[in-house]
Amino acid sequence: MQTKVIPIRYIWAASYCGMTLIKGEKNILIDTAFRESVSPFLEKELEKENLSLKDIDLIFNTHSHQDHVEGNILIAEASGAKVFIHPAGVNAPHVKELKENVISFCDGEKIASCRIFFTPGHSEDSVCILEEDTSTLIIGDSIEGRGSGFAGVALIHDPASYLESIRKIREICKRKQLKRIIFSHKTDGFGNEVAGEEEIAGFLDASEETCLQYIAFIKDLLQKEKECTIEKAGSLLREKYSVTETQISPGTANGVARAFMKYCREN
Ligand SMILES: [Fe+2]
Repeated sequence: MQTKVIPIRYIWAASYCGMTLIKGEKNILIDTAFRESVSPFLEKELEKENLSLKDIDLIFNTHSHQDHVEGNILIAEASGAKVFIHPAGVNAPHVKELKENVISFCDGEKIASCRIFFTPGHSEDSVCILEEDTSTLIIGDSIEGRGSGFAGVALIHDPASYLESIRKIREICKRKQLKRIIFSHKTDGFGNEVAGEEEIAGFLDASEETCLQYIAFIKDLLQKEKECTIEKAGSLLREKYSVTETQISPGTANGVARAFMKYCREN
């Protein structure tokens, strides 16, 4: 049976929240969006592939943010599938409730046709999942280009890890001749996914450049205003780098500002 990688996009927050179905010897659902997106939305999407919730063999979470894990419980109950997540995510809400049905990933391990890579930076527990039959990398929110309309900026919460994760993905590209990268949310200038060497390199370059720009901007800000507040830094960061006029959650940029202020004070 030829493996198929099928993005499933639940409309959310002026964009969408992505799940990915790997249909092959095992049916794997990567991320589960929300409780409300399971029925009837996900059920109908699975029906298009002649599948139902009970046909899901494995659930993988790219990280433990709510918009990626909230549907876990309903889908695990319907299918009996175990939920796999980074070890740092096992105690997160919508994961810990599954108790012995939660299994930790190991960095580099292969499960069915998928190889798991730890790629922290957006969150401590972010992973990328490489579907090896199709050379497709499902990255969740691990790397965000120039950002999305949700916060207006790229949601980076540990700049050093984020840059290291980009380097790691570049290596995977070279070693595995990557054909396609699928995002969890619409990403400014790159849409839903990138395919082919040139587009993939462009996306990774934009992601790295964005992180380096934020570092330079916050370093400069802290030189001019040593005691600058997180709120002011977040607002200035948005003013300078926002990819949209209307952010759904402008306050989220403050978390990014906090992370870069910490990084710049320590480096
Ligand atoms: Fe996230």
